Amino acid sequence: MQAVFQTRNGKPDVLLRGELPAPTCGTNDVLVSNLATSVNPRDCLIRAGRYQLQFLVPKFPLVLGSDCYGRIVSTGAGVSGFKKGDLVYGLKNPSHGLGTYSNQVSIPAENIALAPNTISTDQAAGVPLCALTAWQALVDHAELTTASSSHAKRVLVIGASGGVGSFAVQIAKALSSKNRTVYVDGICSTANISLVQSLGANRVFDYKTQDIKKLNGEYDIIFDTVGRNSPTTCRHLLSLDATFVTTLPTPGFIFKHWVSKFMSLLSISHIRNRVVMVKPNQVQLREITRLIEQEAIRPIVDSVYSMAEASKAHERSQSKRAVGKIIIRTQT
Ligand SMILES: NC(=O)c1ccc[n+]([C@@H]2O[C@H](COP(=O)([O-])OP(=O)(O)OC[C@H]3O[C@@H](n4cnc5c(N)ncnc54)[C@H](OP(=O)(O)O)[C@@H]3O)[C@@H](O)[C@H]2O)c1
Repeated sequence: MQAVFQTRNGKPDVLLRGELPAPTCGTNDVLVSNLATSVNPRDCLIRAGRYQLQFLVPKFPLVLGSDCYGRIVSTGAGVSGFKKGDLVYGLKNPSHGLGTYSNQVSIPAENIALAPNTISTDQAAGVPLCALTAWQALVDHAELTTASSSHAKRVLVIGASGGVGSFAVQIAKALSSKNRTVYVDGICSTANISLVQSLGANRVFDYKTQDIKKLNGEYDIIFDTVGRNSPTTCRHLLSLDATFVTTLPTPGFIFKHWVSKFMSLLSISHIRNRVVMVKPNQVQLREITRLIEQEAIRPIVDSVYSMAEASKAHERSQSKRAVGKIIIRTQT
């Protein structure tokens, strides 16, 4: 197969394009002719050998990549529900072997869903990891859809123009219903205000001109996709029964997450701390597909690269200025 791979850790220029043996399709896997993948910030950490869970990363030659999108070429003997020719997308974490920077991907069938037929290849390839992260932060951790309270839910997304943030704004809005109004505000830089408004945010704050410490508001959920804030820096913005979710799995946040879970178990009232650690989830990915097909979610593409340009794609990700997703087409 054609792949982008590395034989040592280092800067973006360690990424090489070349031929590697094709993956084998396990009993519960499907083999996908992969059309495109996306760059996630953790790819750059793994490439450099600085990822927190580096021990889970396969050995060299290492093929990075978590998102895959393409047609099923074959299915393992234990797979039901998918067939050759289905257009699917899905997520592979380090524990599943990564490997989506390539034109052939073997992926557990339980990690995939039928892909939306209303969006482009580039848009679809950026969906699984970021949309699932946003879903799991808002629904699993912050319980946005739990029917316990009748009042409208107020959500603040920090980093609203990034890969995760652009999905979070749209998913939170899309989960408004007859019985549950969701107001979503976003924080981003000046240049991205109109984009975040177009994603459905009710109010957008510009962190270049407005200090978060001086903002007014009361939120039930603050989702920090950037990892620069904490429940302490946001205390004045959190309601008494609020949840603060971060994407940053530092030891401190993970400790607070488990203390907070324990307090929740004991029904002790407090501001909940949560760290999201994205996992594949077929049911959630199907829901995301449905919302994309209903045009409630519009995946945003920042830029598109060929496999030969993978190092440029990593440089773009490391700039931390991506607006939506950085895509690598894996057939070029
Ligand atoms: N734990 C998990 O399971 C998990 C899953 C996915 C991602 N993550 C982590 O979550 C973080 C975000 O991921 P991503 O894919 O969304 O990254 P990304 O697409 O690279 O994020 C880029 C965005 O960050 C925004 N940004 C940068 N500095 C900011 C600041 N000070 N305040 C507000 N926004 C700022 C930029 O917006 P402006 O240009 O407008 O500033 C840009 O749109 C990364 O650290 C990633 O590793 C964790």
